[in-house]
Amino acid sequence: MYITSFDRQNQLISIANSGQLRSQADIETLLSSGVEYVWVDLARSKASVVLLYQANSVSCHFSTDAKTRFVKKIGISREAAQIKAGELLSESKRLIQKVLFETFEGKAIEISPFETLADNMINMMLQDHDALSCMSALRSKDAYLLEHSVNVAFLLVTFGRYLTLEQPILKQLVIGGILHDIGKIRVDIKVLNKPGKLTAAEFEHIKLHQNYAIDILDNIQGLSQVSKDICLMHHEKLDGKGYPRGLVAEQISLHGRMSCIVDIFDALTANRSYKEAMSPAAAFKILLSLTPFHLDKDLVYDFIRCVGIYPVGSLVELSNGLVGIVWEANKRDALHPIVKCFYSVLNRRYVNVTMIDLLKSDLYIERGLVSTSLDIDPTPFY
Ligand SMILES: [Fe+2]
Repeated sequence: MYITSFDRQNQLISIANSGQLRSQADIETLLSSGVEYVWVDLARSKASVVLLYQANSVSCHFSTDAKTRFVKKIGISREAAQIKAGELLSESKRLIQKVLFETFEGKAIEISPFETLADNMINMMLQDHDALSCMSALRSKDAYLLEHSVNVAFLLVTFGRYLTLEQPILKQLVIGGILHDIGKIRVDIKVLNKPGKLTAAEFEHIKLHQNYAIDILDNIQGLSQVSKDICLMHHEKLDGKGYPRGLVAEQISLHGRMSCIVDIFDALTANRSYKEAMSPAAAFKILLSLTPFHLDKDLVYDFIRCVGIYPVGSLVELSNGLVGIVWEANKRDALHPIVKCFYSVLNRRYVNVTMIDLLKSDLYIERGLVSTSLDIDPTPFY
């Protein structure tokens, strides 16, 4: 198995020459030198490595069948996790595209592929949240509806987990998020993709996507009420001035209220051909300005705490003028992530990539950025 680092007396030690352990004897040697935990890069380990899953840990041995007593925590390299996350997001977009097409053709929607996808997304969120968050922040301008649907699903499940909702509800949040704008398939594509501000008549036309959704959702066998609430309540407002049904506060469920917040946040932070993305901080201000008449104020504050002022995948400028991607925030406070720096504002040029751990540095985050504000392309650094 391929080891990247190990714990000795609760100290995480990165191995300068990380590499393969080739036999049970190698494991015994590590154990006898006081190592209790190792981090294994599964993608680079041989197939003969056998992992045994237990309640809170995983034990590992080689297939030579030596008795195992080696208990370890699993981790795959960030690079491998990013690839897996990218594949999951692409697969999600393909599924939405297929279902949009089938809906357009008048075919019924099968729920089972969405359930599988939801399970995969939840598992990845639990194991590699930073990788998934980072990859979902990487947006193209062309596939807005697909990316928006996947991102709303990911944000909803992240938010749901923060609110300690049960696992079956998390699954329904993902399915609802992915399907939430399904009615747009029946909207005039020219209006849907219009670059720029909509006229009043065009806006009324777009609003119809929710009326179309009512019909479409009625024909999906096995779709839960939670998923339906997300699909049909994400444009409702607490004061009753939303659509399609003009529901008032007590009629809008928790999941419906969550979807209103997440839908607006993702739209604001997306890069479109006709508008620049907003930084998360700027989007939070708008969300707060929509309380208490439109959005649930307490829930907006929860959402801000959940996403954090500098979410993983967002761009920041450090106090020394270096610009980077917030790379790792797991088990850290919001102000001290690891930042992957690649650009210098002072020199106005790209620099060698450096990982800066703000817990171990005097540097601090000066501000959140959007890539267009500096006219730089962070894409190759994700
Ligand atoms: Fe919508």
